[in-house]
Amino acid sequence: MFDHQKYIQFTPVGLKDRNWPNRLITKAPYWCSVDLRDGNQALVNPMNVDQKTKMFELLVKLGFKEIEIGFPSASKPDFDFTRKLIDERLIPDDITVQVLTQARKDLIDRTYDSLKGVKRAIVHLYNSTSNVQREQVFRISEGGILDIAKKGAKWVREASMKFPHTEWIFQYSPESFTGTDLDHAVAVCDSVVSEWKPETGRKVIINLPATVEMSTPNVFADQVEYFCKNLAQRDKITISLHTHNDRGCAVAAAELGILAGADRIEGTLLGNGERTGNMDIVTMAMNLYSQGIDPCLDLSDIVKIIEVVEDCTGIAIAPRHPWAGELVYTAFSGSHQDAIRKSMQYHKDNNQKIWNVAYLPIDPRDINRRYEAVVRINSQSGKGGVALVLERDFGIELPKWMHVRLAEIIQNAVEETGQEISPSSIYMLFEKHFIRVNEEWRLTDYNLKHSDKQVEAEFVINGIAMKCCGAGPLEALIEGLNRIFGYHTEITQFDQHAISSGSDAKAQACIELAVNGQMHCAVAIADDTLVAAIQSILTAFSRISPIKHRGVA
Ligand code: KIV
Ligand code: ZN
Repeated sequence: MFDHQKYIQFTPVGLKDRNWPNRLITKAPYWCSVDLRDGNQALVNPMNVDQKTKMFELLVKLGFKEIEIGFPSASKPDFDFTRKLIDERLIPDDITVQVLTQARKDLIDRTYDSLKGVKRAIVHLYNSTSNVQREQVFRISEGGILDIAKKGAKWVREASMKFPHTEWIFQYSPESFTGTDLDHAVAVCDSVVSEWKPETGRKVIINLPATVEMSTPNVFADQVEYFCKNLAQRDKITISLHTHNDRGCAVAAAELGILAGADRIEGTLLGNGERTGNMDIVTMAMNLYSQGIDPCLDLSDIVKIIEVVEDCTGIAIAPRHPWAGELVYTAFSGSHQDAIRKSMQYHKDNNQKIWNVAYLPIDPRDINRRYEAVVRINSQSGKGGVALVLERDFGIELPKWMHVRLAEIIQNAVEETGQEISPSSIYMLFEKHFIRVNEEWRLTDYNLKHSDKQVEAEFVINGIAMKCCGAGPLEALIEGLNRIFGYHTEITQFDQHAISSGSDAKAQACIELAVNGQMHCAVAIADDTLVAAIQSILTAFSRISPIKHRGVA
């Protein structure tokens, strides 16, 4: 059954001298949200009035100026919702609502009834113009399709005259534009436009739907450029695009369509819509934002947007949804984590104004995502990532040589469970392996006597005194321990720094001892640097199992 020979390649437009590949997007298009119409029509459970109101309020808050609120002649809830918005004066002055209608007189009249009293509205007329529908569904000629559109346009204009107090804007969609012979699409739209007469100052929108996405986005861009170049009165008409996501390229098609001459984009928040969905306005707007272009939508609280969309649609947002998904600012790979850590530090150290951080195309905080989500640790993570978690979540900075030691322990733990590990579990393992003091090895007191070249020291460990001497206090301690236990111990790594400032300043010491050639690490935190250093040696020494402390004076 899986047989590609059932399908044929989409016929390209063959546009000569296309201009769109040499252009760049430099400003946001006019946005029109169709969440409350196309999005809503595609829901298992369409939104109730409360949900529609909540979605409408969100869209207004985000900055949409044009919002398609329903298909009132086809759906009683849409009719009632349209009335509610108008009767309860819920439409702000700068918002234009849009409603969809088929090209039938009774439906057009009912559409105007739903809009009675509105200050300004877009009446959106459509009929399918595609070859497949014309030949197989309606079984009529191209002339028949043109006739439906022209009559619909006439009824729309005539009915509007009964409501002179409203500012009417007319919109026409040759539905399934992508499957329509291009010259036919131009002819149908020209005929609709001639009925609406934009030359008299009337605002007219021609909306080109990729009702089904049928080709690569470059072919769609050719279709749009061809259409724009051949439409009469192009300069008096707003060209809008309405792409669906069947091939997963709805956003790309809309972007290239803008390059090809379109001015306006219809879509939904996070891409809800028929089949694979409508063009995702959040993605397209964030694409602009990440290029330094004002998207003219306020997407700064993506968490809230997701909450409302999920509540109103009943559809969960995928964790890897572009820009918005829960895992989008999370690095699992160790090398990514390491690069992010260094890059963020570089960014901070150099006080960079322009965001240019490895693996993070935007600063997650811009849209109410948090750095805590940037790094999670699993068995693929590297040493840098683990260290970053300790630093970020617990303020513990470790020297580089300790990253390796800690990472080994975390790696073993995640390999055992096969699961991701939480920051608190990382801290617990760190504490257990490096900080926790076996009471037998707790420094309770010390005395130092400095003479010319050496220090005579007395360390009281768990109440038992140990006398020793060396070039400095740490050397003395090592000398004492070696003498008592018969080991050969050397300090191979040592790092010490303050971990807070002011009156509650503490010192952190990290040590690596080679005891008879075997490495042991420990970390100690204390009120003063010397105590931290001494305790770190004792703690590292205590890890030499199974030797027990045999305190000898
Ligand atoms: O996808 C589509 O063609 C539509 C039209 C009604 C604009 O939603
Ligand atoms: Zn649609």
